[in-house]
Amino acid sequence: MTLDPPMALLAELTHRCPLQCPYCSNPIDLERANKEMTTEDWLRAIREAAALGCMQVHFSGGEPTVRPDLERLVAGATEAGLYTNLITSGVLLDATRLAALVEAGLEHVQLSFQDSTTEIGDRVGGYAGGHEKKIATAALVRAANLPLTANFVVHRQNFHHLSDMIDMALALGAQRVEIANVQYYGWALRNRAALMPTRAQLTQMTQDIAEARERLKGVITIDFVVPDYYARRPKSCMGGWGRRFLNISPSGNVLPCHAAESITTLSFDNVRQRSLADIWRNSEAFEAFRGTDWMAEPCRSCDRREIDWGGCRCQAFAITGDAKQTDPACDLSPYHDSLVSAAVGEAAAEPAAFVYRRYRNAKPVQREF
Ligand code: SF4
Ligand code: FES
Repeated sequence: MTLDPPMALLAELTHRCPLQCPYCSNPIDLERANKEMTTEDWLRAIREAAALGCMQVHFSGGEPTVRPDLERLVAGATEAGLYTNLITSGVLLDATRLAALVEAGLEHVQLSFQDSTTEIGDRVGGYAGGHEKKIATAALVRAANLPLTANFVVHRQNFHHLSDMIDMALALGAQRVEIANVQYYGWALRNRAALMPTRAQLTQMTQDIAEARERLKGVITIDFVVPDYYARRPKSCMGGWGRRFLNISPSGNVLPCHAAESITTLSFDNVRQRSLADIWRNSEAFEAFRGTDWMAEPCRSCDRREIDWGGCRCQAFAITGDAKQTDPACDLSPYHDSLVSAAVGEAAAEPAAFVYRRYRNAKPVQREF
C-alpha cells in the first residue's frame, strides 16, 4: 500500500482540564502534568510534522489553554507553515490571551459546549458557570475575527435540545456546528448507561438535523455524527488506521488515533526518542492495523474493507478485547447483536449517575460483556 503523508497532527498538549465531562475522549489513565513534554519538545515535534507533510495542527487536550506556552507553540506551527486550530472548552480564555494567540498566528477556534442550557451544560461539564463563560468566549472569538466552530456532544440527557444547539451556534456567529453523538470508549464507555439514547431518540435527532439543514441551507454548515450502536455499518474511523492522522499525547507518545492508548495490547513510540517520520512509516503501532492485511473475516473478504477499513479499532478492543475483530458496530460482526441489546437495555433503564472525568476516578475498564 502506498503511504501518503498525514493530513493533520492532533497535539494533545495536556490532560489537565477544569471540566470533567463524562464522555471525554482522553484515556481513563490520564497523564499527569509532570509527564508533559516541554515547549522545546513540542516545537520540534511540530516542525517534524510539517516536514513530514502535515498541513494542519489542532491544539487540544485536556484543555490546551492551561499550557502557558500555547502562544509559542502556535507561533512555531505558523512558522512551520501549518494551519492552526484551537480546540478548547473556552472557560480559561480572556481577550488578552486570545489576542496573543491571534498575534501568534491562530487561524480557527473550535469551542465545545455541553448543551444549549446552563443547567445541563454545567452539570455535564461538572463546572459551575462554565456555560456562560463559553458564550462570552464565543463573542471574543468572533470579535477577534476568527472563524468559529461550535461543538456539541449529544446523548440521552440533552438530545431534546438539538435544534436549540444549532440556533445557539448560529446566534454566536459560528460558521459551522458539529453535533456528535457520544463515541463509547474510555470515559464514555464507563458512562454508557448514563448517556446511551434510545432508538426513538436517535430518530428524533435525525429528523431535527434534517429540518435544520433544510431551514439553514447556505447559512451554517451542520455536521452530524451518528451513534455507532444503532448503525448497520461502522464509520471509517480516522479515515483508516495510520492513513491520515497523527496524534501526540501530552508525554509524547505518537498515536494513530486519540483513543489508541485504550488498546492496552499495543505499545507506542515516543517522539522524544524516535523521529516522527520513522514512527509514521514504520512503528509497530501504526503498522498494526494499517491497510487490510491484518483483517480477519468477515472484513477480509468484504467489499467495504477499503471504505470503512473495518471500522474502529478502539471500539473493537473495548467491546471484544481483541482489536483485530470487526468493529461490533457492523452487523456482520458476531458481536453486533449483543452491542445493540446492550444499547437498547441501557437506554431503556433509568440513567446511571455520571462517573466524572477526574484523576481520582481513573481506573481502566475494557470489557463490558
Ligand atoms: Fe466494514 Fe468489515 Fe463490516 Fe465489511 S465486514 S462492512 S469491512 S466492518
Ligand atoms: Fe481509535 Fe476509532 S477511536 S480507531
